[in-house]
Amino acid sequence: MAQDVAAGEKSFNKCRACHQVGETAKNTVGPILNGLFGRKSGTVAGYNYSEANKSSGLTWDDAVFTDYIKDPKGKMPGTKMSFAGIKNEQEIKDLTAFLKQFGAD
Ligand code: HEM
Repeated sequence: MAQDVAAGEKSFNKCRACHQVGETAKNTVGPILNGLFGRKSGTVAGYNYSEANKSSGLTWDDAVFTDYIKDPKGKMPGTKMSFAGIKNEQEIKDLTAFLKQFGAD
């Protein structure tokens, strides 16, 4: 199935307790997720990452993000992101489409 941005927006409700996107987004419990795709992990200015996130060496693209969000602590041992993950591939595709709307600036 194609990517569904509206479904992705709903899925993002699982992330909103800790992450913001959009023009007024701020770092809160977790870093801003604007401009996620294409950036290196652990590089949002002013956010205090764990050593695990900072030094993971990952660059966020579709494949890396899909792997990570299925099992954050499995993919990035030591991360302080306490989130069980999303297992459903379609939901991850939709969430990816939603997040890609928010560029770095
Ligand atoms: C980090 C995505 C849910 C807390 C991250 C990163 C991504 C991400 C991609 C790494 C960012 C980077 O390297 O710049 C998501 C998505 C979520 C979600 C898509 C929902 C599906 C949550 C929830 C919480 C949370 C619910 C809080 C309970 C954090 C924290 C970090 C983080 C604290 C920093 C981790 C560290 O420094 O080790 N998240 N997240 N996230 N997230 Fe989430």
